[in-house]
Amino acid sequence: MAGRIPENILEDILSRVDIVEVISSYIPLKKAGRNFKANCPFHHEKTPSFMVSSDRQIFHCFGCGESGNAFKFLMRYERMEFPEAVETLAKKTGVLLSENQKQDHVSVNINTNLFKVNELSVSFYENNLNSSLGKPAKEYLLKRGLSEETINTFKLGLAIEKWDSLLNSLRLKSISLSMQEKAGLIISKETGGYYDRFRNRIIFPIFDIKSRPLGFGARVLDNSLPKYINSPETPIYIKGKNLYGLNLAKDSIREDDFVIIVEGYLDLIIPYQHGLRNIVASLGTALTPDQVRLLKRFTQNVVMVYDADAAGELATLRSLDIFIEEEMEVRIVTLPKGFDPDTFVRKDGIASLRERIKQAENLFDYKLRILESRFNSKEIEGKAKISNSMLETLNKIKNAVLRSEYLKKLAQELDVNEDALLQEINKIKPITNYADSRNQITRKTFKTNPTEQLLIKLMLEESGLIHRIKDNLEPADFQDERISRIVSIMFDLASQGKAIEPKMLMNYVGEDDVSELVCESLFLPEESSGIHKEKVIDDCIKRLKSDKLKLKKQHLHEQIKTAQHLGDEETLNSLIEEFHYLIKKR
Ligand code: GTP
Ligand code: MN
Repeated sequence: MAGRIPENILEDILSRVDIVEVISSYIPLKKAGRNFKANCPFHHEKTPSFMVSSDRQIFHCFGCGESGNAFKFLMRYERMEFPEAVETLAKKTGVLLSENQKQDHVSVNINTNLFKVNELSVSFYENNLNSSLGKPAKEYLLKRGLSEETINTFKLGLAIEKWDSLLNSLRLKSISLSMQEKAGLIISKETGGYYDRFRNRIIFPIFDIKSRPLGFGARVLDNSLPKYINSPETPIYIKGKNLYGLNLAKDSIREDDFVIIVEGYLDLIIPYQHGLRNIVASLGTALTPDQVRLLKRFTQNVVMVYDADAAGELATLRSLDIFIEEEMEVRIVTLPKGFDPDTFVRKDGIASLRERIKQAENLFDYKLRILESRFNSKEIEGKAKISNSMLETLNKIKNAVLRSEYLKKLAQELDVNEDALLQEINKIKPITNYADSRNQITRKTFKTNPTEQLLIKLMLEESGLIHRIKDNLEPADFQDERISRIVSIMFDLASQGKAIEPKMLMNYVGEDDVSELVCESLFLPEESSGIHKEKVIDDCIKRLKSDKLKLKKQHLHEQIKTAQHLGDEETLNSLIEEFHYLIKKR
């Protein structure tokens, strides 16, 4: 990824930026010895395991494993792509990037233009709403309880009735028709020419987490249909990857440590106006794994607020499992029949909604209640239907203790045998989804060899020691594939006579799990201080060599057994010969 931006430029930027300063502009850092500490911004925790090293210019969380240099922090925290993180820090440090260095890919170029076109359109629609033509629309919004301030906060606008008003306005600003079409703002006519997609509608711009306009939703001013139309998918507006309002809500979500999810634009806007700030909207579609993971950056706790119609739907129920798969806590508020969050707050007040959120039901109770209202839990058939559906969800709980406790509870509630439930849940295929495969590569499942890790730590701390190791070991002598990759990069750099700096190494290794290991190693306690480092290295080398020999012998032993089993004399003889050779060599 770093390919297009020359390494010396990355190095230049990193040498001018202070990671402590960068990170502390987002979260409070406390001094802890040579390092700084904080509660990790990437997972929820009560005691700080997020470390920042000013010497090394890297961060690492011992809780969740996130780690890297200043670029990586911005990529994670601000959800930037690499080129954007580089550009941000370049600007901050006064390093000049050429245009094509900024635009790592052509697509970045197009995207930047799409954002620009959308920004112009946001302003255009806003101006309409504030003009005399916008009076009825403004009145409509005020009548629905929105304040002027709220209208400005959400940058609401108006598309007037004409067929080409946006089109002409953008054309005057030299935006080509093909660009306008790409942004989804105009539609081509079969007879040739184009017309505005949105006409005679209130405009709700949809922003990404960095408040860049991705696309638009547009509502009629009366009861005609369709009530809402939206931008089509464009290179920057990919449905299911974003959540409405997250740009405004993210800080509150972090602070309150939970997020409220509603369905509609106004279901978000009205509560927000009344001070409920940790709120996002899914815009009437089922949540996707991408959206859930986006939220997970800010909190593990979700409260869904549904209107009574939606809440009763089995499809809605099923969609909640996604939170279980992502190991998040989800609770549900059901509003009285006929109300959505917007109308509920206007009638009953925000305090009443807050109260309901506080009382929200957990998924188990909620789902069981819905199922029991659909099927008769006193009859055998009903019990089977309810338990099947409940087990689908319980099967997705990763924590075994939690899962078995819920099984026990379900057995009690339905008055069925717990062993029978256990049998049934075991019949359900284990889920293999993206979240699962990803969990398998988190660091907790890796057992790092401490000798190997100590060696890379020493090499990173004192590049003068690299040659001593290089003369005795090959990258392949390291059993951990990640370490072997790091070692091979370090050996290469060393033989090119290049300096090895941890913060730069991060840019070479690319893969997250590898750079994570580098950072973790550097934060390991200084066991080796005071002792002669060369001696430590020699001991490590000896140990790795003997480990390797042991492994090789084990492997040969297995092969010999197999050959004996198969009666393959020829192979057997050559294997035994090799075995003796190994022992002698020692
Ligand atoms: P108001 O009537 O203005 O209060 O809208 P609402 O948000 O209460 O609408 P509703 O509960 O009917 O729908 C919830 C969300 O689903 C809306 O905010 C839209 O994002 C989406 N939606 C509703 N109707 C339509 C439609 O006709 N087309 C599309 N594409 N989306 C819709
Ligand atoms: Mn509504």
